[in-house]
Amino acid sequence: MGKKIIIGNMKTNMNYFDIENYIHEIEGKMDYPAVILLPTSLYVPYFKDLNIKLGLQNIFFENEGAYTGEILPKQAKSMGLRYSLVGHSERRKELKESNQMINKKIKAGLQEKMGIILCIGETLEEKVLLETEDALKRQIFTALKGIDDLKNIVIAYEPVWSIGTGKIPTERELVNAIKFIKNFVKEFKNNQEIKVLYGGSVSSSNIEFLNKIEEIDGYLIGGSSCDPEEFLKIIEEVKSLY
Ligand code: PGA
Repeated sequence: MGKKIIIGNMKTNMNYFDIENYIHEIEGKMDYPAVILLPTSLYVPYFKDLNIKLGLQNIFFENEGAYTGEILPKQAKSMGLRYSLVGHSERRKELKESNQMINKKIKAGLQEKMGIILCIGETLEEKVLLETEDALKRQIFTALKGIDDLKNIVIAYEPVWSIGTGKIPTERELVNAIKFIKNFVKEFKNNQEIKVLYGGSVSSSNIEFLNKIEEIDGYLIGGSSCDPEEFLKIIEEVKSLY
């Protein structure tokens, strides 16, 4: 297995004035090759000199045409952005992004050979009703429909109830969900293996616990990626595994 991947999802945190300070704080300190940072796309150019991998938090589902306000995968690629999240739960909820739309976005991104991070996860209601596996299955099944080659895709398992809440699943819940995802994908996609990252309230205080779970292939980190000290601590902890 390769090194654990660390993805920083900066969401809509920080304004222009905070960015300069953030960049100053992290410059030269992210010496772990498997870090990918996803700034608010407006600020991407300011991160270009940092010599770290950069990506987007979202892409559009077409590669040609006029779509006011959107970013096409081919535009991202021309800026050197080779990675994008697709299907983050905040977009599913606030923008009504459907699994069908997510499927189209993945296809458009793959057309440009981008690396796709497909976000899935159960809501609190689904968890309480013991419908976690059904929810994951439904999301994966439609999102990956008609996609045969998974080599440029990883899945980020993000329980919706753990995002930004400080709550994380138990070891057992994590192992079960991640194994379920890996097995389901394998069955559904001709024996192909997929990496599964964990996302939801990852912080310097739980990274040691998470790192012990072998099934986790990396992390998608929101809030903690916007605090340079916190983010660097997490990176150090992951680095210490190797
Ligand atoms: P969080 O967000 O780390 O702030 O919980 C994770 C995410 O939404 O990707």
